[in-house]
Amino acid sequence: MDMRKNETLVITCARGVADYLRQEVEQLGHTARTTSDTTIETAASLHDAMRLNLALRTGINVLCLLKQFSCKGPDELYREVVSFPWEDYIAPSEYLSVVSRVNTLAVNNSVFASQKVKDAIVDRVSEKRGMRPNSGPDRDNVVINFYWNDDRCWIYLNTSGKKLSDRGYRKIPHTAPLQETLAAALLRAAGFDGSQPLVNPMCGSGTLAIEAALIALKRAPGLLRSDFGFKHVIGFDSEAWSALHREACAQSKKKPPFRIIAADIDKKAVEAAKKNAQTAGVEEVIEFHVCDFNDTPIPEEKGVVILNPEYGHRLGKQHELEETYKGIGDFLKNKCAGFTGYVFTGNMALAKKVGLRTSRRLIFFNARIECRLLEYHMYVSRK
Ligand SMILES: C[S@@+](CC[C@H](N)C(=O)[O-])C[C@H]1O[C@@H](n2cnc3c(N)ncnc32)[C@H](O)[C@@H]1O
Repeated sequence: MDMRKNETLVITCARGVADYLRQEVEQLGHTARTTSDTTIETAASLHDAMRLNLALRTGINVLCLLKQFSCKGPDELYREVVSFPWEDYIAPSEYLSVVSRVNTLAVNNSVFASQKVKDAIVDRVSEKRGMRPNSGPDRDNVVINFYWNDDRCWIYLNTSGKKLSDRGYRKIPHTAPLQETLAAALLRAAGFDGSQPLVNPMCGSGTLAIEAALIALKRAPGLLRSDFGFKHVIGFDSEAWSALHREACAQSKKKPPFRIIAADIDKKAVEAAKKNAQTAGVEEVIEFHVCDFNDTPIPEEKGVVILNPEYGHRLGKQHELEETYKGIGDFLKNKCAGFTGYVFTGNMALAKKVGLRTSRRLIFFNARIECRLLEYHMYVSRK
């Protein structure tokens, strides 16, 4: 593959995140447009795709469009896929995985579509190279994404391989952890860029604090991973990759300019958060505390305080949580003057119990749950 030729790159994200992802792609020097509530499109090379995989905090997959065509049924699908020069991309020694999403009357399930696409690719490589690549569900080598909508099909090389949200640092998940890319998007939405302190009571497994530390240290999240889909494609330029890697390492700082504080009432949660931070290489820059959210230390300099309380979708917890949410309002009002406060929740009835006026209410999706990031400006009262 020609690593410098401009291709169509489609970068996927969770619903609610596309605008933040577009900003990130633009900051990396690309012209990008939002093409759906879960995709951003840009014209860039595979060399650029390597850099995007390394640097993006809110994107999930960086896909490179290989072919699009119209198709009415499985036989036509096979013919279209087998006519593509896969032998220029996939060596027979590689392992191949096909991920499909179908929304068409032509087939009734994505497993069948994946099988058909996989057969065509493997048959083509085998015919041209005399050996069949192995294939299966693991996404740790070559990953191909296939989409079939009505009579239109798109095939992409997934340059990320495994999802970019799998940063690899969360060995111990604890209770209801946020996806890493969603945590990064919430911080971006909150205007956190490391040039202010961050306080994260109710830190759970520490995702928000760890992502904040990576942002404050200007550390590219891709530095935490050693493997990506693009590394398994014929033409992968390992020298260019090493140069990008070195450049990203050189940009990374040793110490954040402001304090990052993470706390939780549950000792086990703090232990998990510490271990995860250690795996991410940021345990030295986060201050951990075991305490009620109301006792979280608040730094002198003003910044961002962000809480992700439980949503109470389990029966019987509602009343207890009403008190917690009310307490969060009191905590923000009494202890966080001068800060911008954020509560991320999927329970609007409980959110009302915070009892403060929101300045913004941003919609995100935590898996399938529609959530809000609620913003509260905590003004310093003049006496
Ligand atoms: C939804 S989880 C947070 C998940 C976290 N954002 C993550 O990514 O792992 C809510 C956390 O709030 C903590 N918590 C509940 N009540 C608390 C309280 N009164 N003070 C401090 N933490 C509390 C729980 O122990 C739990 O870890």
